[in-house]
Amino acid sequence: MDGRDLVRSVKAVGSVGTAQGVRTVRAAWRRRRADASGLPPRGAERARVPGQVRDVQPAPGGGTVRFGRAELRIVVTLGGAVFWGWDGAGPEPSYALAGPCPEPDPRAVLEPDKDGGWRVVAERVTVVVSRHGAVEVLTPGGVMLRRDLPPRWWEPVGGGPARWMQRSEVSADARFFGLGGRASGPRLRDGSYRLWNTDPGRPFGPGDDPLYITMPVQLVVADAGTHLVFHDSSWDGTVTLREGEEGAGSGHDRAGSCELRMDGGPLRCWVVVGTPARVLLAWSALTGSPALPPAWALGHQHARWGFGSEEEVRRIVEEYRRRELPLDAVHLDIDHYDDHQVFTVDRDRFPDLPRLAEDLREDGVRMVSIVDPAVKADPGNAIYADGSAEAAFIRDASGRLVRGVVWAGESVYPDFTDARVREWWGGLYEERLKQGFSGFWHDMNEPTSFMSFGESTLPRSARHALEGRGGDHREAHNVYGLCMARAGYEGVRALVPEERPFVFSRSGWAGMQRYGGTWSGDVATGWAGLRASLSLVLGLGLCGVPYSGPDVGGFDGFPSPELYLRWFQLGAYLPLFRTHASIRAGRREPWEFGAEVLEHARVALLERRRLLPYFVTLAHLARRTGAPYVRPVWWGTPEDRALRDCEDAFLLGDGLLVAPVLDPGTDRRAVRLPHGRWYDTVTERVYEGPARVVVEAPLSRVPVLARAGSVVPVRGADGGLELEVWAPAPGRTGGGPVVADAGDGWDEPELERYVARWEGRRVVVRREGDDGVCEPGRPVRVRGLAGAPGQ
Ligand code: GLC
Repeated sequence: MDGRDLVRSVKAVGSVGTAQGVRTVRAAWRRRRADASGLPPRGAERARVPGQVRDVQPAPGGGTVRFGRAELRIVVTLGGAVFWGWDGAGPEPSYALAGPCPEPDPRAVLEPDKDGGWRVVAERVTVVVSRHGAVEVLTPGGVMLRRDLPPRWWEPVGGGPARWMQRSEVSADARFFGLGGRASGPRLRDGSYRLWNTDPGRPFGPGDDPLYITMPVQLVVADAGTHLVFHDSSWDGTVTLREGEEGAGSGHDRAGSCELRMDGGPLRCWVVVGTPARVLLAWSALTGSPALPPAWALGHQHARWGFGSEEEVRRIVEEYRRRELPLDAVHLDIDHYDDHQVFTVDRDRFPDLPRLAEDLREDGVRMVSIVDPAVKADPGNAIYADGSAEAAFIRDASGRLVRGVVWAGESVYPDFTDARVREWWGGLYEERLKQGFSGFWHDMNEPTSFMSFGESTLPRSARHALEGRGGDHREAHNVYGLCMARAGYEGVRALVPEERPFVFSRSGWAGMQRYGGTWSGDVATGWAGLRASLSLVLGLGLCGVPYSGPDVGGFDGFPSPELYLRWFQLGAYLPLFRTHASIRAGRREPWEFGAEVLEHARVALLERRRLLPYFVTLAHLARRTGAPYVRPVWWGTPEDRALRDCEDAFLLGDGLLVAPVLDPGTDRRAVRLPHGRWYDTVTERVYEGPARVVVEAPLSRVPVLARAGSVVPVRGADGGLELEVWAPAPGRTGGGPVVADAGDGWDEPELERYVARWEGRRVVVRREGDDGVCEPGRPVRVRGLAGAPGQ
């Protein structure tokens, strides 16, 4: 949202803009005062480093190394992930972990290293601890992936949480990715990245940082290997990255560096080493499998802030139907609430939502509701009364309710870090379900309070339950959205146990994929915003959150027809394919941009529908393996340096490479291909990678290339599942997994495996089973034969 949206929205419900303005000024002052009195002044601090090693205490999976002024505990776990924590920090409690810490690997032992240091040797990684407390992560072959220098703490003399700093080095060729959703990525260049979930307060572009989802998760890709490092502390922090440089000729290399400064929380981290696929597998084993979206959430969804009435929703859906444009869901924004209050309906403009939902569902269209966490502080508001009786809202140290200002005016915020509150909140979705909603769109959960100055969130001194441990907003802020997602997901699951919940959330943290996905927030309309929206999807995928997508067309303003179309064409290949915009922005329906755009948008919509079985397969694979649907082009060949720097294309699963158009006036574009044979999926022209090739990118489509040998499940003309098989390169075989849609319930469909190989001049496709190979049992269409030998 931006300030103008706020004013407009306030006007839309008949309040006076200035009254809201006065409230935001008051809220900002209140926040300042609360922190001034509620947080102890930092005062003098004492710095500390670990000192010299003293002795060690072996334990399963590693052990503890004791230094003069600190101690370090290292555990290699059975999945291969390595944990280490300073000063007694263990892996639990953690908001990121999906369950208890995995068992230690008994084969990993602590043994003496040279120069008075120690090391733990495990199957996939060696961790070396120097006698001063530097920690090195090495490949099994002994190549250094990361070197943490001895950490440094600053402890307030009068007591209180210590700040700390961890400097690390990586190889000169390494590239950084991740840190949550970053607009300027996916490759994170030199600069500082803050770890504090933030509503930027206006539509964002590549220069805006931080945004709604930050995570202390880095994926580092280098020639020697890929590793993920996760510093499990939810406190405010800053990561400063500097890529290395390789010395030309006889010059020396300069290592890449990373400096993490945190305002508090334990100094503990997890490291996973391997190929990108292995790293994401281990990461999702640790932090939880991504929730599987129902199949309809893999289709096209249309949202608007300001549909304004039930008739308008019906009209839009009817337009989609009349024009034979596939549509799977419509999203209702805050304008359908009564006076902007969550879990209410404006009955004048939306008199019969259950009926609307039923009618839409007959046309195969679901209804999704926005859910904001803030509750209007008004005794006449039932949720406020109920929540007050439940003692659900956040208070300050003196016991007063903490108030902020959101759409409905002065509001209070549920404490989602309290299991009891999560359960209460989860039960409230019953009202939404009765209104006929099938999915939930969590918003404003950084959490946001409009401020006329200062930070647009709650005071840091606000108290939180933190699962009974007790603490304040400094620790709870970054996990607020994650805990709200959990409340919504678990609530809906309890209310409709036979269906998979569909929840996606603007804010979140490491592990949020357990409850659903996200969207890119209020991305600025413009070519830069289009690029930024791809950066977010790729970066989040590498942090373990595979389901996301942008507001197609951008959140604000009026995209040109060309920009809208290019955004639409990109969106058609992203997991969440949703058009949405602000109440002040131009419309985003595909027919609003002229006949030509409509025709091309139709092609994109039909292709998305045709690829639905592929998206379903990718969703299941993400759940089983943690691999995102949308992957950087270097996913399978991270040692390919040219690919590592390629940010304008992506792999969709293993089979497809999508090269969206991100610049105006384009009718052809360069694409960097990974190793192997690739086909242009429209012309079937053959390209051999690795190479940089120039492909046609007319306004009618964005280039999509298929990897030779891939098996892409698609929807046939009769709606059934078919296999589109791209001919393997001569002398090669191909194949791939397929998971058929098993409905919106919890049934676990089988992973079907297909193989494709040449037999003379034919490509033969077979299904692999436990008892050998058999006929595929599904219609097969082999493509790319024109480029085959002898054809
Ligand atoms: C926030 C959301 C946006 C929504 C608006 C009104 O700006 O990010 O998606 O439309 O609030 O609810």
